[in-house]
Amino acid sequence: MSGPTLTTARLSLRPCGTGDVDWLHALWTDPQVRRFLFDDAVMTRARAEELIRRSAHTFEKQGYGLWIVTRRQDGVRAGFAGLWPAKWEDGPEIVYGLLPAFFGQGLALEAAAAVLTCGFGALGLPRILAAANPPNTRSVRVLERLGMRLQRTGELDGFETLFYSLTREGFEMSPLHGGPDRAGYPGGVEQPGSSSGS
Ligand SMILES: CC(C)(COP(=O)(O)OP(=O)(O)OC[C@H]1O[C@@H](n2cnc3c(N)ncnc32)[C@H](O)[C@@H]1OP(=O)(O)O)[C@@H](O)C(=O)NCCC(=O)NCCS
Repeated sequence: MSGPTLTTARLSLRPCGTGDVDWLHALWTDPQVRRFLFDDAVMTRARAEELIRRSAHTFEKQGYGLWIVTRRQDGVRAGFAGLWPAKWEDGPEIVYGLLPAFFGQGLALEAAAAVLTCGFGALGLPRILAAANPPNTRSVRVLERLGMRLQRTGELDGFETLFYSLTREGFEMSPLHGGPDRAGYPGGVEQPGSSSGS
């Protein structure tokens, strides 16, 4: 498994691996998670395996992929977050999802901010994209708290979609950049931690 481990105040993010197939398959088929993330489609276990394989490949080639988000206090898996080649434009999009039991604690924002810190920092990406369906208000709030800028509304896979993007300069100006003191946010983000495996 290659790719960095990222650490925040409450979370540790490690690249997903073959040992996560069943867990990720359960997460990605949860009705509240798949609704917007996979247009409500119930994916097969084989598809989950394929996404994990693709993640290992993008970590290898581009330095990013899908991370498993675990709670540092007890190592419990709460969700996933990552960067993934966008379908609608050239560049990576930010993606995330939590088990419903972990909603409402600021963990998605904390994990997503760590992913952006890695993307703009260690990976030197100039721009990161995002997309959300308007009824996915929780995700829209995460994107706006990240400082993502709405570019346009349009259609993706037949659904009305809000398309966002954030430049490195935009992220450096955002309150989430630079940690909890500047952000006044309890889950401040540290720089990516140790490298695992590569
Ligand atoms: C999108 C998703 C990750 C958002 O989850 P979330 O729990 O709303 O987001 P966060 O973890 O950032 O939590 C934010 C909420 O926690 C609250 N909160 C509680 N304690 C907090 C703390 N210590 N720090 C920050 N926020 C805290 C915030 O006030 C906020 O609530 P609000 O939006 O009602 O004001 C979740 O709904 C999900 O997994 N959905 C399914 C997958 C999906 O649609 N993904 C997006 C497509 S890529």
